[in-house]
Amino acid sequence: MKVINVVGARPNFMKVAPLVDAMKRREQQFTPLVVHTGQHYDTMMSDAFFKDLELPEPDLYLNVGSGSHAAQTATVMERFEPVVLQEQPDWVLVVGDVNSTLACALVCVKLGIKVAHVEAGLRSHDRTMPEEINRLLTDQISDLLFTPSQDADENLRAEGIPEERIRFVGNIMIDSLLKQLPRAERSNIRQDLQLNEYAVVTLHRPSNVDDPKTLQRILETLEQVSLRIPIVFPVHPRTEKMILGMEMAERLHYGKNGIMFTPPLGYLDFLQLYSGARLVLTDSGGIQEETTVLGIPCLTLRENTERPITVTMRTNTIVGTDPAKITSAAFAALDHKKSTERRIPPLWDGHTADRILDALL
Ligand code: UD1
Repeated sequence: MKVINVVGARPNFMKVAPLVDAMKRREQQFTPLVVHTGQHYDTMMSDAFFKDLELPEPDLYLNVGSGSHAAQTATVMERFEPVVLQEQPDWVLVVGDVNSTLACALVCVKLGIKVAHVEAGLRSHDRTMPEEINRLLTDQISDLLFTPSQDADENLRAEGIPEERIRFVGNIMIDSLLKQLPRAERSNIRQDLQLNEYAVVTLHRPSNVDDPKTLQRILETLEQVSLRIPIVFPVHPRTEKMILGMEMAERLHYGKNGIMFTPPLGYLDFLQLYSGARLVLTDSGGIQEETTVLGIPCLTLRENTERPITVTMRTNTIVGTDPAKITSAAFAALDHKKSTERRIPPLWDGHTADRILDALL
């Protein structure tokens, strides 16, 4: 079975690596191709992940780059269509909820090529999020929907998707996490940054970083938290651009006030960093799940989550961006004794890739 695996942006790489790895192990059954759209292209947003995740170099690179949503989605479609026509795969796998996910699924459905969506059914019910639109549309048009949790199955049923298209297989990203943990322990990031007790922050959602007033308010709140515990903040390029345009720009270069800004980190360094943190504050989707598995308290700086299982597992708290809510939740989490009791939702067991391949066969 010839399968094209699509990657585009940073949160795709850790979802595709276990699939390609499993296909290579089962080479009698599968011939995998990796197509990188180039939605993310900086070394630390892309190449570093291939190396850390032992993902083979892409067979094809579409060099799409940044742009408006329409331009980026359209360019991915234009450049992916001839690839599909040339390769005639049996299946195309798209993962997650980035623009490349939707663009490639749309190309396939129009050509009558089978497409499967990995990490289907997640819903924040917030249509101002570009990812929510990508999730909704990709799920409507894909032939097979691989879900990470049973709440996702419920969402798909509620949208009228027939049962035979839905497969609950578990969380593919956790395959990478469990496989790479021992290698991450060899990272020196904690020593290099001279860390003992610390919190980790990541922020990149347009709703948090695109408006300078909102971003300024969040950064000032983080400074409050950093009076209690040092914070390490690897900065996403979107966020960096915004901070550089603000009056607070000079704070980017420091260790002042307890916040240590760093460039984006590779997969292994970042895993080693957050796995040792007392607390994580983030607006990422994936990090809410990764902290659940490792039992690290996570505060989500958004008004909603498409990953409610992380809240029911009680590692994740949705705090929004109200300064008082963030600081009181952070201080409450820090007052608790450190616990790293893992919370493992059903089928987040490191074997999701094989379940997906079995279903494809
Ligand atoms: C994208 C995804 C988002 C995901 C995030 C993870 C969509 C709609 N958004 O958001 O779901 O959570 O990736 O990182 O697909 N840039 C660089 N170097 C790069 C890539 C981007 O400097 O390698 C800069 C560009 O100026 C670009 C900006 O970051 O304009 C935003 O990149 P873009 O891919 O549009 O969206 P993300 O915010 O990264």
